Amino acid sequence: MPISVGMKVSELKIDKRIVSILNEQGIEELYPPQEEAIEYALEGMNLVMAVPTASGKSLVAYMAALRWALEGTKVLYIVPLRALASEKFDDLKAFRSMGIKVGISMGDYDVADPSLDRFDILVATSEKADSLLRHKVDWLGKLKLIVADEVHLINDPSRGPTLEVILARFKQINPNAQIIALSATIKNSSDLADWLSAVHIQSDWRPVPLKEGIYLANEIQYIDNSVHSVEPMRDEVHSIIIDTVKSGNQCLVFVNNRKSTEALAGKVGKKISPLLSGEDMEGLKNVSEDILERQSEPTIIGKRLASYITNGAAFHNAGLTNDQRKTVERGFKDGHIKCIVATPTLAAGINLPARRVIIRDYRRYDPNFGSVPIPNLEIKQMSGRAGRPGYDNVGEAVLYSRNKKEKVFLFENYLLSDTEAITSKLGTEPALRNHLMAVIASEIAETEEEIDRFIAGTFFAHLEELWTISGRIQSTLGFLVDNELVSYDGQYKATPFGKRTSALYIDPLSAVRLRAAIENISAGKVLDIAILHAVCATPDVIKLYLGRGDYGWVSGLVMEHEKDFLLPIPKDENDFDFFLSEVKTASLVEAWVSETPEDEIVRKFNVGPGDIRNRVETAEWITYSMLELARLFKCPHNRSIENLVARIRYGVRKDLLNLVQLEGIGRVRARAIYNAGFTSINKLQGVPVKRLAAIPTIGPKIAESIVSQLKKL
Ligand SMILES: Nc1ncnc2c1ncn2[C@@H]1O[C@H](COP(=O)(O)OP(=O)(O)OP(=O)(O)O)[C@@H](O)[C@H]1O
Ligand SMILES: [Mg+2]
Repeated sequence: MPISVGMKVSELKIDKRIVSILNEQGIEELYPPQEEAIEYALEGMNLVMAVPTASGKSLVAYMAALRWALEGTKVLYIVPLRALASEKFDDLKAFRSMGIKVGISMGDYDVADPSLDRFDILVATSEKADSLLRHKVDWLGKLKLIVADEVHLINDPSRGPTLEVILARFKQINPNAQIIALSATIKNSSDLADWLSAVHIQSDWRPVPLKEGIYLANEIQYIDNSVHSVEPMRDEVHSIIIDTVKSGNQCLVFVNNRKSTEALAGKVGKKISPLLSGEDMEGLKNVSEDILERQSEPTIIGKRLASYITNGAAFHNAGLTNDQRKTVERGFKDGHIKCIVATPTLAAGINLPARRVIIRDYRRYDPNFGSVPIPNLEIKQMSGRAGRPGYDNVGEAVLYSRNKKEKVFLFENYLLSDTEAITSKLGTEPALRNHLMAVIASEIAETEEEIDRFIAGTFFAHLEELWTISGRIQSTLGFLVDNELVSYDGQYKATPFGKRTSALYIDPLSAVRLRAAIENISAGKVLDIAILHAVCATPDVIKLYLGRGDYGWVSGLVMEHEKDFLLPIPKDENDFDFFLSEVKTASLVEAWVSETPEDEIVRKFNVGPGDIRNRVETAEWITYSMLELARLFKCPHNRSIENLVARIRYGVRKDLLNLVQLEGIGRVRARAIYNAGFTSINKLQGVPVKRLAAIPTIGPKIAESIVSQLKKL
């Protein structure tokens, strides 16, 4: 089915090799919004494209990026999520055959990444990009183009300011370079365009028309007033899902919490399973086995996911590992998984279209405000996943309502309403603290006037009067000076402590906490839990939630180590509760480095394997930062911190640190090898493959690999 009749890709003033690569991918003609934007993009003009989900915004950015790359200059492509970084990287890799060097940056925070110089186009998350640019300030000047994908996320309180500041700095340092910002449809995209001095392309066009509707009592009523009846079932959400599957289609179902993703996928799968074809069952068996085989350690969640998948339904949430999520997405794209039940994280920019999107929950829990309606912008991003180009005439997005009143509410507030305007979140205290520290450390702004000029270039200043934050700027500068991160004598200068803090990419408040902890390390033995508590007491580590059942055992742990902690135990009841959740989080990391099986951690801490990965990764980075600061302050007892950094990376006790250096040997296999009597890599020299293969969890393939690695040593 032809999607549009537009300008041919071959008519563009671009390298013919690009044309043939696009044609090979089935891209022959431009979509209308692409046609509208492409010339500006190729001429090097700034561009804000505010166009619905899945309308091919990336292609416009790719064309501009390739143009600069072919001219020998560099491009930075910024995305909000790692999953998106790999998606964009995979897309751009198609152009490697033209000699274009495409890179992706996901590595450590504290490295002046030399890869920057090796690539023409570098894809990175905003945090990674920000961190790279702190190390290589001159790089900003060399860039000819920054692409800001999902730029509406400037609105995000925790991560938005980073993207905003990169763009503001880029504009300031390199006013003639190009910025292409890709956005979901937002009410005030023209504000973004004005701020960036950009051509504003706005459109409602979609490759597949979207039909939005609301479900109530066995009927979906669409916005055009047409009605579709579904066969009644006891659970009404099941009835909409089964209606989709019975007509030979797939659906994405959005719910507001992880438990629901699992519960719904499990239950509805039982009803999907009888509808599956033999081919689907075969395909699902493969996906399911993939999930089980790829786990580094067996977990209940992995097992559950694998078993649900055989029924044709999967769940998708932040508790899964990246690998598990990717496998689920692949199984859906192959058509075998009929239904994915997901939290809204799936909706952000990842290209996973389905015939029907069902939004079961329009409310979600907010720790400050309780249950609140989800912004229309997010509802539209979920809805926008409906409709597969080339397959569907129309995509359907169905909001589920439980009663008449709710139906009216949904119609008025979502279907008939605009998406919200976005605002800048740079005015918050943590954002100012982080970014003022960074601009001072990188010597972009050192005087009052320079700081004012920097702030004046931000989206915040574009939208609001500056006086609204001048007080907060002053108090933030005061914080930096008081804590000796910055010195002031008419000019703000980062101290070595401040410079290190900025380069480590940690919150200045984290640095101050870590310094306090380091000062309390005394000559005696310092316990892992004490170091890990200091690490988890920084604002960079997201704390685990303290459940009612946790109060007892965590308080017990605090009492037991009363004298060992490096930071004081608060007297105030509220602060004490915070302290407990810091200790609970530290205790998860301690379990990890004590080789507690993943599954046990999942159960004890009520988290998913993905959460363990996230916490552990952050803990490694902050512990490394603590080590670096300990070195800076010449703390004589930093051996224990040093050991911990490596132990957190691998999840092992100290005695395995040597064995895990072998490729393909994780903590479980390393322990098995150790227990078989080979306590170090050295002791493995000369051991026959057969003997190694006989060790539990090793087998012939890995034994071969070990032996060949040993030969290279
Ligand atoms: N002109 C075209 N013809 C056919 N397919 C296209 C065309 N342009 C883009 N596509 C395909 O459309 C899909 C969606 O594109 P893309 O991911 O760029 O959407 P987007 O506008 O960024 O949406 P999102 O809001 O999801 O980020 C991709 O698979 C892409 O290859
Ligand atoms: Mg996109």
